[in-house]
Amino acid sequence: MTILDGKKVSNDIKNEIKAEVDKMKAKGEKVPHLAAVIVGDDGASLTYVGSKVRACERVGFESTMVRMPNTTSEIELLDQIEELNENDDIDGFIIQLPLPPQINTQRVLMAVDPSKDVDGFHPENFGRMALDMSTFIPATPFGILELLERYDVDTKGKHTVVIGRSHIVGRPMSILMSRKGWPGNSTVTLTHSNTKNITQITSQADIIISALGVPNFLKAEMVKDDAVIIDVGITRVEDDSKEKGYVITGDVDFENVSKKASFITPVPGGVGPMTIAMLLKNTLLAREQRKG
Ligand code: GUN
Repeated sequence: MTILDGKKVSNDIKNEIKAEVDKMKAKGEKVPHLAAVIVGDDGASLTYVGSKVRACERVGFESTMVRMPNTTSEIELLDQIEELNENDDIDGFIIQLPLPPQINTQRVLMAVDPSKDVDGFHPENFGRMALDMSTFIPATPFGILELLERYDVDTKGKHTVVIGRSHIVGRPMSILMSRKGWPGNSTVTLTHSNTKNITQITSQADIIISALGVPNFLKAEMVKDDAVIIDVGITRVEDDSKEKGYVITGDVDFENVSKKASFITPVPGGVGPMTIAMLLKNTLLAREQRKG
């Protein structure tokens, strides 16, 4: 069994990006600048955005965090987006999700200039992805592809079962794993909350990508021997014995499933750090595209 070490691979990628930034600096060029908009004070979202900002510092990017109150109206957020679209110094930006209920997420994501949409959530970029055209691939699916590639995991002709149909992970992942090329060329089954007999499906999978957000959902008896297991779950589970009062728990019962798996991602230290590394990669790409 091999652990897919997202912490190590993401560090490798950050070092590669930093080397690119150092070259830009040596030539006197502008370095990439990422902005992140966060609406409200959700603890998990603040933690994620904080990690993204720290990652920018680590690779030599400029970063800007825009904080807006929980009571922000949709119009106010759209105005902020317009400002970022027009600000020539900003190469890419993200709107941290979820947004408060008074704001229509789809309308907001459609307002982002596709050339600055480093999350790859704009319908134009999502469509380009589905049509195999070059674009910003959403960071979490992109990070999973990169992990599979760097560990030389064979995906061709394999049966990949994706659990969860979110716009951020499950849906794009199912598209990417079915496309031509590597990693890809899989036969994909996309399962979700209305799927019947999920164990029957997962137990036939060569590769399982679980993005459900239900702690310890995937048990050893749902998995066949030598399966590849990718755990995208990052649920906070209360634990008073911990300093923070919670532990980050994945969708996979790691202790038991890891005994059957050929490759498996840990939580934390698997997919999570890869997401941030790929957001940086998309931001570097945005800067290079803006240079022309
Ligand atoms: N919320 C959970 N994951 C993500 C992500 O990848 N990007 C943004 N913007 N919000 C998220």
